Amino acid sequence: MGENSYHIPVLVEEIMGYFSTVKNGVVVDGTLGGGGHSHALLSHFPEIRLVGLDKDPAAISAARNRLEPFSSRALLLNAGFETLPAVAHDYNLGLFAGVLLDLGLSSRQIDDPSRGFSFSHSGPLDMRFNAAKDAPAYTVINTFSESELHRLFRELGEEPRSAAVARAIVAARTQGPIETTGALAAIVAGVCRGDIKAKARIFQALRIAVNGELAALSQTLEAVPQLLRPGGRFAVISYHSLEDRLVKQAFVRLSETTGHGSRLLPGEKHVPKTMERLTRKPVRPSPAEEERNPRARSARLRVAEKL
Ligand SMILES: C[S@@+](CC[C@H](N)C(=O)[O-])C[C@H]1O[C@@H](n2cnc3c(N)ncnc32)[C@H](O)[C@@H]1O
Repeated sequence: MGENSYHIPVLVEEIMGYFSTVKNGVVVDGTLGGGGHSHALLSHFPEIRLVGLDKDPAAISAARNRLEPFSSRALLLNAGFETLPAVAHDYNLGLFAGVLLDLGLSSRQIDDPSRGFSFSHSGPLDMRFNAAKDAPAYTVINTFSESELHRLFRELGEEPRSAAVARAIVAARTQGPIETTGALAAIVAGVCRGDIKAKARIFQALRIAVNGELAALSQTLEAVPQLLRPGGRFAVISYHSLEDRLVKQAFVRLSETTGHGSRLLPGEKHVPKTMERLTRKPVRPSPAEEERNPRARSARLRVAEKL
């Protein structure tokens, strides 16, 4: 397999820059994918040990091959990043020197129609990162009520025509179950007059729901600051506004002291800040990177340091 044929990692130089203070210790790559970021981290920082997680068993196999030269310094586990506190405890890893989350899905997952993420190539309505763990998109599309579908598309896809898409899905179901991504894409195209962005928003909403992505992210944003050593760095790359908003809000909250001095409100506790934001505005790929890798376009990186 070519070095980046699985997935081209984004913002690699920027990540290496932010992790350059991390000289040793354990660094977590919570979203291994094809192991692109992990490869760069292990090459750049010869003293670190790496713990790599991915919910997708196929990603773990690909990363295991790619990271073979570093096998003595890398522990790769088929697990969700939301299980990080348990992983730290079970493997007695101590406090981490860095944690990286590169959210969403890899090119390999999008490009393989049998995974059901793609609206360009029809496949089964699946969309699970781990087929053993969650219910497939088929279940959501064929069993949710019209109002549940409407809410899902509105809240997780921010699609303005959510009500009409939900209505069209429920109407189509009267002819039999909707089996494929192609059939779903055709329904959305009918309602949204072929608007490709509408398809992307509906598919994004479904994927987020199927994999419980926002809950996993919120849980992890809460947990990671307690798992980092002082000076440890937490970097998150997100690809849509719902994720980026959660990351921004968490980093702002963690970097503020509440109930400071005389402004302590009744019942309010003094909670000192635990993190320093290293990025006020999210870091975006350079025009050269976007040209090289158009899928990098929506990437937004935020980084914070444990105090
Ligand atoms: C954008 S890709 C990561 C690509 C990787 N940085 C690389 O260089 O190849 C995102 C990966 O995160 C995984 N993923 C999504 N949600 C996850 C979760 N809650 N826990 C662990 N892995 C997750 C997906 O299966 C996918 O492989």
